[in-house]
Amino acid sequence: MKIFEPIEINDLKLKNRLVMPPMCMYQVKKKDGFVTDFHRSHYHIRAIGQVGLIIVESTGISPEGRISSEDLGIYLDEHVKGLSDIVSLAHREGSKIAIQLNHAGRKSASDDPIHYGPSPLQSSNSFPIPTELSKADIQRIVQQFKDGARRAKEAGFDGIEIHGAHGYLIHQFLSPISNQRTDEYGTDKVLFLKEVIEAIKSVFDKTLLLRVSADEFHTDGYDIHDMIRILKEVEDNLDIIHVSSGGNVRPNKEIKVEPGYQVYLSEMLRNALKKPTIAVGLLNTDEEIVNVLENEQADLVACGRELLRDSNLFLRLAKTYGREDLIPYAYKRAYR
Ligand SMILES: Cc1cc2nc3c(=O)[nH]c(=O)nc-3n(C[C@H](O)[C@H](O)[C@H](O)COP(=O)(O)O)c2cc1C
Repeated sequence: MKIFEPIEINDLKLKNRLVMPPMCMYQVKKKDGFVTDFHRSHYHIRAIGQVGLIIVESTGISPEGRISSEDLGIYLDEHVKGLSDIVSLAHREGSKIAIQLNHAGRKSASDDPIHYGPSPLQSSNSFPIPTELSKADIQRIVQQFKDGARRAKEAGFDGIEIHGAHGYLIHQFLSPISNQRTDEYGTDKVLFLKEVIEAIKSVFDKTLLLRVSADEFHTDGYDIHDMIRILKEVEDNLDIIHVSSGGNVRPNKEIKVEPGYQVYLSEMLRNALKKPTIAVGLLNTDEEIVNVLENEQADLVACGRELLRDSNLFLRLAKTYGREDLIPYAYKRAYR
């Protein structure tokens, strides 16, 4: 059964196909971006639970780029030590671990008063009107992604996931709803992403993942066919596409949020591109999880909230499908 099979994606060797997607934990109570014991335990426990690939939560490349002030940061060299602890703990259990780098742009709810966007357009009434980024601001942010990537390398991460989804800055640039610039960043809405990828690759030579919102579900936004075109421009520089949806504006197209509702987007991208995909979104039951891979709709499967509920989800799957040999000795008696 595919979920239990190891996979090699370029230099990344995973022992199985289960992914923990990035999930902000809002546990940096000092608001300084530093890893706490909560984060060490939280990720270590999922590694003990045999997750093949862990993706650490959205981590701010600058203080104002954090989604909230309680997010992790990677904007200081001093952040590296705590992050490297998380990496070592994951590696000790044989898991691979990536980190999601993010700038929240106009959707930042951090205490920092600066809110930027490609254009001075609000995401919703919950957020202020952002300041339009100057070209110098854009170059500074590209540099911050590069510095974050250098620190991710120093911390020992096996991969970086660029957060290009859920209405944060990169998504804001990709979307005609939030990017109404008339300069080159508006005429080529992929330019900012291309610059970020190039900057990261200049200092980070391991696995590069891109998380996308594959469809905005809005009549003025991009759809999955546009996303295929966008990704064709950058896929040669990427290793894995992580397929989510929405988040930039309230959808005005009908979507049924039901088990596996985003899986067809992963399947479409996987068929249209040369890259492996991760499917995610309301995949909770054993059957839902394994079928995504059996049906060849994705190469990897991510379970977010189900892994928060059950950190031993992989052991549960191993028991259900007769692969008790994959359950670590320490926990074997619990699954007899
Ligand atoms: C508490 C929580 C925090 C999240 N934080 C992030 C995040 O930091 N970055 C991100 O790309 N998605 C984030 N997400 C979205 C998840 O990665 C995932 O795509 C979503 O929960 C759907 O998968 P699920 O139904 O398996 O939970 C978050 C979700 C939850 C529940």
